[in-house]
Amino acid sequence: MLVTGIEILEKAHKEGYAVGAFNTSNLEITQAIVEAAEETKSPVIIQVSEGGLKYAGIETISAIVRTMAEKASVPIALHLDHGTDFNTVMKCLRNGWTSVMMDASKLPLEENIKVTKTVVQIAHGMGVSVEAEIGKIGGTEDNITVDEREAAMTDPEEALKFAKETGVDYLAIAIGTAHGPYKGEPKLDFDRLKKIKEMLNIPLVLHGASGVPEEAIKKAVSLGINKINIDTDIRQAFARRLRDLLEKDREVYDPRKILGPCKDAMKEVIKQKMILFGAAGKA
Ligand code: G3H
Ligand code: 13P
Ligand code: ZN
Ligand code: NA
Repeated sequence: MLVTGIEILEKAHKEGYAVGAFNTSNLEITQAIVEAAEETKSPVIIQVSEGGLKYAGIETISAIVRTMAEKASVPIALHLDHGTDFNTVMKCLRNGWTSVMMDASKLPLEENIKVTKTVVQIAHGMGVSVEAEIGKIGGTEDNITVDEREAAMTDPEEALKFAKETGVDYLAIAIGTAHGPYKGEPKLDFDRLKKIKEMLNIPLVLHGASGVPEEAIKKAVSLGINKINIDTDIRQAFARRLRDLLEKDREVYDPRKILGPCKDAMKEVIKQKMILFGAAGKA
């Protein structure tokens, strides 16, 4: 069933587990996510980035995800990932999305608060939940120093002010993860996470979770992360399977015989994440 983001995350917050939020931009990725959720009996968040919207078209991707979510036996939310443009956020609300992220984390704190607060008022009026970001979650390709990385991390006092003034439902925080594949091993600031959770007591979101070792994920969940964003690990599983399949079978040409196995490879990765995050069996 299609449900709001907060319905899924409030339960995760109370019971101390995390729900996977997986990026999609087409039919097969969406199938992989929904089938993984059904097979492991997990609640799940299906999210689309602004780039994903541009690729698939908002009406098309909304219809694909909403149709599959409504038919599913597990709770599923349709979420906008990193909405940096206010008008895109409004468009998702008009297309029946059940969760949106207003990401104004690049703006100064007061401006981030202002736009997020407006989105919260409008979205809540429509029964839609809101995620926002404070601190800066960069990419692994960003060439930044250790000091710059530290400065980009979420300040607990600012996070508390932000949550109080905006009324946001769940908050993405910067504690050392980055989008994309890691060169070395990421170092997470668990003390910072613990402090933020104690002060805010709301569901917290970990971005850039592809490539983070299992032990670090488990620890982050135990300290209060309730939504974990995964994109790169799914993309890599897709590409690995595709290369392997086409190399091994030079004759295959039916897209269904090519993309079907790629979907299964993505599904396996997603199922493993659901089990790791503690969401399996929680639907
Ligand atoms: O946060 C980034 C997500 O992995 C989406 O990436 O902008 O390439 O769709 P994208
Ligand atoms: P990864 O691609 O590193 O998994 O990050 C995904 C993400 O944070 C989407 O918002
Ligand atoms: Zn992200
Ligand atoms: Na990552």
